[in-house]
Amino acid sequence: MGRRSRFVVPSAAAAALAVLLQLLARSPHAAVAADPPFTCGAGAPPNVAFCDRWLPVERRADDLVSRLTVEEKISQLGDQSPAIQRLGLPAYKWWSEALHGVANAGRGIHLDGPLRATTSFPQVILTAASFNPHLWYRIGQVIGVEARAVYNNGQAEGLTFWAPNINVFRDPRWGRGQETPGEDPTMTGKYAAVFVRGVQGYSMAGPVNSTDLEASACCKHFTAYDLENWKGVTRFAFDAKVSAQDLEDTYNPPFKSCVEDGHSSGIMCSYNRVNGVPTCADYNLLSKTARKDWGFYGYITSDCDAVQIIHDVQGYAKTAEDAVADVLKAGMDVNCGSYVQQHAASALQQGKITEQDINRALHNLFTIRMRLGLFNGNPKNNRYGNIGADQVCTQEHQNLALEAALDGIVLLKNDANALPLSKPKVTSLAVIGFNADNATTLLGNYFGPPCISVTPLQALQGYVKDTRFVAACDSAACAAATIPEAVGAASSADSVVLFLGLDQNQEREEVDRLDLTLPGMQQSLIESVANAAKKPVVLVLLCGGPVDVSFAKTNPKIGAIVWAGYPGQAGGIAIAQVLFGEHNPGGRLPVTWYPQDYTRIPMTDMRMRADPATGYPGRTYRFYHGPTVYNFGYGLSYSKYSHRFVTKGTKPPSMSNIAGLKAMATSAAGAGAVSYDVEAMGDETCERLKFPALVRVQNHGPMDGRQPVLLFLRWPNATDGSGRPASQLIAFESLHLKAMQTAHVEFEVSPCKHFSRATADGKKVIDQGSHFMMVGEDEFELSFMA
Ligand SMILES: *[C@@H]1O[C@H](CO)[C@@H](O)[C@H](O)[C@H]1NC(C)=O
Ligand SMILES: *[C@@H]1O[C@H](CO)[C@@H](O)[C@H](O)[C@H]1NC(C)=O
Ligand SMILES: *[C@@H]1O[C@H](CO)[C@@H](O)[C@H](O)[C@H]1NC(C)=O
Repeated sequence: MGRRSRFVVPSAAAAALAVLLQLLARSPHAAVAADPPFTCGAGAPPNVAFCDRWLPVERRADDLVSRLTVEEKISQLGDQSPAIQRLGLPAYKWWSEALHGVANAGRGIHLDGPLRATTSFPQVILTAASFNPHLWYRIGQVIGVEARAVYNNGQAEGLTFWAPNINVFRDPRWGRGQETPGEDPTMTGKYAAVFVRGVQGYSMAGPVNSTDLEASACCKHFTAYDLENWKGVTRFAFDAKVSAQDLEDTYNPPFKSCVEDGHSSGIMCSYNRVNGVPTCADYNLLSKTARKDWGFYGYITSDCDAVQIIHDVQGYAKTAEDAVADVLKAGMDVNCGSYVQQHAASALQQGKITEQDINRALHNLFTIRMRLGLFNGNPKNNRYGNIGADQVCTQEHQNLALEAALDGIVLLKNDANALPLSKPKVTSLAVIGFNADNATTLLGNYFGPPCISVTPLQALQGYVKDTRFVAACDSAACAAATIPEAVGAASSADSVVLFLGLDQNQEREEVDRLDLTLPGMQQSLIESVANAAKKPVVLVLLCGGPVDVSFAKTNPKIGAIVWAGYPGQAGGIAIAQVLFGEHNPGGRLPVTWYPQDYTRIPMTDMRMRADPATGYPGRTYRFYHGPTVYNFGYGLSYSKYSHRFVTKGTKPPSMSNIAGLKAMATSAAGAGAVSYDVEAMGDETCERLKFPALVRVQNHGPMDGRQPVLLFLRWPNATDGSGRPASQLIAFESLHLKAMQTAHVEFEVSPCKHFSRATADGKKVIDQGSHFMMVGEDEFELSFMA
């Protein structure tokens, strides 16, 4: 099962590729597995409440905590929690990773056999480009299943996964932007909710009626974390200055959605400070905003060594004991690292914390382990106990990895139908660039060993027998390039495809970029190759963050540009299928591609809104109106599509029909303008204001394809000082349409949620006057008048 890949490949290429895939496929599992670690089996004390699976987990957790000595309690406050033998508790490792597939990057997961590989999906930024929540949900589901399989095989010491990464991709230079769903808070929030639901074993939407967890997800990094190391300012030392307005409508919405809609069982507080306060030591953020206002039910971990830096790097806490007290009193539960385990006893001695503070944290921690079913005796007899090794790297899971790569890939330029390539016509192919034949680069970061590994070069060799490869440089740095060799290959080939962009040496955790241009000799290489080629060349960019390829956009010798992110284990095959027209690309950029000039603004400036007085341009499509290389939401296809609002006459319920609304009007919008306080309107009024928006989408051919439908709201007066975004994505859906097919998609529009804006002090208001909904080129005006 799952040993051999059976991707759909064109018949002529199939034989060659099938042989290749067999050679490359790893065996994901081999031998018989050990029992997973668990509590309350044969060795458990008799008749203890914490082992009674019919009692509420809250009571069971309290019972367990009440049986622990102070030393035992303190031992459980780090990510590596040791066994407590006298109660039959095995060790537990809180830190596991599953950003885009179950990974062995943390401490809890061991892929060193019998299971040695898991399904490796594209890096998140590419998956996001599909704008397809159902795809995101199914990826989460696969992670939940494969996580259980690994655990049931005795290769996991924990089931708490520190994914997804849902910080808004605020600055194009951010080294970890690749891990996120992009720059839009609504989209990021949607990704968070459905991914978490998939991982945790919940339905994609609707009520969650069980607190059981298949695996535990964790939304990170709470909050305003999106800088690694920029010109010596590190994430450890950085104090993010964030306005109430930006926090309310940019930095926090993904976390709110993750908690309220996704029912995430975990949150990670970040390294950075926000307005002077380390997030892990911020009672308002952790206990008030997350737990009380959003109803968070789960555990809060620190990022790794984030408690230590509160004292050692930030100097926010005067002593180690103060740091421990700050985080425990703020509502953090477990420390990634051993700092709290080391200093909690002296903090207790010095009276800086009470045993009650520790009990509070332990209650949350043991509740999670119980919700995972780890205190119910041998989990093989439990709800998820029958998920075996044969459910890892299944055909279905691997097909989903291919689907994600196919649906994420974005066609940025396609002059004179340079693409798709025609297989019979391409008699020889020159493949040029270091990113064509590096299987590791395809995986981005935070990955586990993939079920299969096929590079773009290997996949293309299955299409064109006469394929010549020149790497030209050995990495994205491309300090020196063998340009003459590349030019030689290009000039003698029928078609030329270049694979360039970035790799993990340019953008990764702890490494932000300084420039947006392609590094080193890449541009010269591309231009020399394009000049030498018989016809316009194809440029495939593998990178997570955006690059300034203005030179390629305007160069007629570069016929097509394709962005393929870091496309995961099936990425090589997906790229080949797109290039040869077996798949119609439909991905859209989830981030703005800025010109190099954008790097003149400091990465440390957290302001989202532009400040024309000082020349600060603002950030993301919502607030930045300067020149771009490519816009958020941009992406071409081999087909033409059209979008229209249906029933133009339909009006939403008028605000004037809502009794008492006038009384809620405030004058926050400025001189003469009227706006309504959303909180004062209340849930019932907001419910009554909801209305459907129906959109008709047509594929005018010539190919079948997937088309994301993006619904935006536009405000005419974005520059009136109110701080409104010029436009804002409010809903999206991905549709598959056959050539010439028409379909309708219905969005539920909630004016309270979708038409409101955040005021300077972080309050949500709806302005009286015109609001415009946009889809494609069509617009629909809505007027709110009291
Ligand atoms: C949750 O409720 C839905 C609908 O009421 C039901 O179909 C589903 O089986 C329930 N799930 C659990 C885990 O009880
Ligand atoms: C593949 O790329 C990675 C960086 O993404 C690099 O570390 C590694 O050395 C490369 N492998 C080869 C064989 O070039
Ligand atoms: C936008 O500004 C114009 C002119 O200043 C004004 O007439 C109009 O009412 C404003 N619209 C809204 C929605 O505030």
